[in-house]
Amino acid sequence: MTRIVGMKVEGMASPLGIGTHYPRFSWRIESDANGIEQEAYRIQVFAEECVYDSGEVRSDESLNIECPKRLKALTHYRWVVSVLAGSEWFSGESSFETGMLDHVWSGKWIAGIHNGDVKQPVNYLRKGFTLDKQPVHAMLYSTALGVYDCAINSSMVSDECFAPGWTDYFFRVQHQTYNVTSLLRQGDNAIAVRLGEGWYSGTISRRRNSNLPSYGSIPTFRAELHIQFDDGTTTIIPTDDTWRCSIGGPVRFSDIYDGELYDASYSLGDWMSPSYSDQGWSRCLHKNRRITIWGRTAPPVRRTELRKVLEWRDIAPSLWRREPNIPDPHRLTIVDFGQNLVGRIRLKIKLPKGVSISIRHGEMLNADGSLFLDNLRTARAAINLVGNGEEFEYEPLFTFFGFRYIQITNLPEDCDPGAIVAAVMHSDLERTGRFRCSNDLLNKFYENQLWSNRGNYLDIPTDCPQRDERLGWLADAWIFADTASFNFDIQAFFEKYLEDVNTSRTGAGEYPQYAPFFAVNHLDAYFFGTEYYKGHSAWGDAAIICPWLLYRKYNDKRILERHYDNMKQWIFFQDENSDHHLRCSCVWRDWLNHNDPTSETLISTAFFAYGTDLMAKIASVLGKESDAKEFESLANEIRAAFQKRFVGNDGCLVETSQTAALLALEFGLDVRNNDNFLKQLTDNIQAHGCRLSTGFIGTPFLLSVLSRFGRTDLADTLLLQQEFPSWLYPVLQGATTIWERWDGYTKEHGILPQPMNSFNHYAYGASASYLYNSIGGIQLADDAIGFKRFVIAPHFPDALDWAETEFDSPYGTIRTAWRKENGTVTIKVTVPPNTSAILRLPSQADRLLKSGDYCFK
Ligand code: BGC
Repeated sequence: MTRIVGMKVEGMASPLGIGTHYPRFSWRIESDANGIEQEAYRIQVFAEECVYDSGEVRSDESLNIECPKRLKALTHYRWVVSVLAGSEWFSGESSFETGMLDHVWSGKWIAGIHNGDVKQPVNYLRKGFTLDKQPVHAMLYSTALGVYDCAINSSMVSDECFAPGWTDYFFRVQHQTYNVTSLLRQGDNAIAVRLGEGWYSGTISRRRNSNLPSYGSIPTFRAELHIQFDDGTTTIIPTDDTWRCSIGGPVRFSDIYDGELYDASYSLGDWMSPSYSDQGWSRCLHKNRRITIWGRTAPPVRRTELRKVLEWRDIAPSLWRREPNIPDPHRLTIVDFGQNLVGRIRLKIKLPKGVSISIRHGEMLNADGSLFLDNLRTARAAINLVGNGEEFEYEPLFTFFGFRYIQITNLPEDCDPGAIVAAVMHSDLERTGRFRCSNDLLNKFYENQLWSNRGNYLDIPTDCPQRDERLGWLADAWIFADTASFNFDIQAFFEKYLEDVNTSRTGAGEYPQYAPFFAVNHLDAYFFGTEYYKGHSAWGDAAIICPWLLYRKYNDKRILERHYDNMKQWIFFQDENSDHHLRCSCVWRDWLNHNDPTSETLISTAFFAYGTDLMAKIASVLGKESDAKEFESLANEIRAAFQKRFVGNDGCLVETSQTAALLALEFGLDVRNNDNFLKQLTDNIQAHGCRLSTGFIGTPFLLSVLSRFGRTDLADTLLLQQEFPSWLYPVLQGATTIWERWDGYTKEHGILPQPMNSFNHYAYGASASYLYNSIGGIQLADDAIGFKRFVIAPHFPDALDWAETEFDSPYGTIRTAWRKENGTVTIKVTVPPNTSAILRLPSQADRLLKSGDYCFK
């Protein structure tokens, strides 16, 4: 059977409220038959009637095909794609809705009660209204500067968490779109909103040394509820000053870094219900906010899994580390979820009136069994619960934690710690990759990087989820993006992030080091301007590397077009601020390298050349041939400058770090001397006892470069190395995620006494792409886009007996499974419809494979 599956609009399945008039369509073909290829397609888009018909287009393309017809705002569209394959037509149908787009909001920005300080009580907003006719269709368009959730007639409108997500609130915020038809009724209704500070005005974006807000101090909410009745009439319920607000609810504050104070003795009763009287509540205030509101660009954050407790135990109360305003406990309980994760707990508890307990979150335990908190730095990551004498069910509202353990003070005897669950939270992206092999340690490493990927893709790609950071560091983002693009469909997620990378540029063209950007330190911002944080190589270059990746992996040409001028300006900025093409601006260098440093100028100049090379390719993809030539010749000049400065008369690099050689080889900085560089690299690795010494910048290239230059044997040795520093070393120390430092914890010495010691930091995990593309052998062909053509080139490390790899590429699932038996290797391969692959096996001639299932020996 042949059918159309995986229909997506703007990289999302049936999205509501998209932020573009010109959506792009993608689909996949699934088939039992071999050799299926798409010969033609036809796309039809219907509102009430057909608004766009592409007609029959002779093309084998099925990825991100743009609708050239300008679609209207606030409209439900159905789309049908018909595909001609093997002289038969097949079709699939799906839908999407456009967001507010150019529609002018009638809803006003409103605020509740807030004094502008951080960690104020959550605002409860409500609007009661009566419908005298039967509603047949209703859509809620809502957003906040802050973070919110919303219920209609006591039912939540969605399972989305942390709406509206984090964007560059200096410029733009997303709105959400919810179909709430089933929640409304004829008669009395109520909308109930909880509004917190979130990324907008919470501690995360406050200046560290002054507590001043970066964006604004008072959270605001804006919405319109559009209702259609059975008689064809419509009405809109907008936010305005008839909405009521209260801060009398139990959430006394909810903050991303610091956690939550929940006092059950504050109660608003049944405030979400239409029958509730809000007579005593205050009126909401109109607020002026000048900000662009966009529709949805990426999948929302959700709770994707509930995890049970692995074990729990009481420890001596004397192990409690004193905290202000919390009396010494008489009971101290440690609960272990067995997995370092991102999310929050859920429990049922009854506490006597006025009695409080504190719950702290941590990733590790100290040697004495108490909770390790030092690596949180200033983030408190705590929940304080105050009882009212009745049992209540509890999950925090607007906060998340990076934790494996919680430590609870004075847990009442009748509360079973084993019944607490952890809700795992992250951007709900489609999982696309799977890997398993005969080596359990490697499997664990694979699982660990997946957990770090999940937890650190929480609306933006973060460095870590636990300490007072959780920022969208650009280097971390590109370092892991290739691996992430095997694990999950990251197209929409990255498009959203790259928008913020781009709005955060300086006028001169420098990119920030993290995005969404705000100045962390008030005085820095004051004395140096926000430029202080911008313009650094290897970090800023994410702005070119990531769009190029999205283009290659998803045929996302729009991302190149959209940001082209900015990328170009970044290259010119670098040129103007270089010394005859030598650049020296990379403040973090090869961050966390292992006593094998690389100079700022080498890294900076290498990335300048690489970015310029990518720009030549990008210009050429966009048909800007004269730009392409200009970039090509600039890249050659940069390479010449690099060679003059960093390659000695003997043809070797004057800097001997692993990272220096890796950058020279990966970026082709002096190809005539590649053999020398390779020797320098391998000599260095041998000198380190067959171990790596790279930091964040070198590590992602280590295995791929060795393998590309014929030393897959050495790449395997490094991958399977168990001694420090190596990927498997933390696994052997009990890691369940990727760590910021290889030796963040050792069985021998315990936790490394370092304030920057995150146990959930995916950068070093980037080498997991090697499992997919080298052991599994699934590689995008050099000149191909979106896995339309790919190479299957697995290799069979001596230490492994078998490996199974799957990747749901944008065209369909690619599979490789190989097994060694009695001296031969059997390999099974699946090539999805409408693609072709080159099978490249050691010492065999290349074979061209059309779609289908194959088995070779
Ligand atoms: C982050 C990193 C980031 C870096 C810049 C750190 O605090 O955690 O992962 O890239 O700063 O060096």
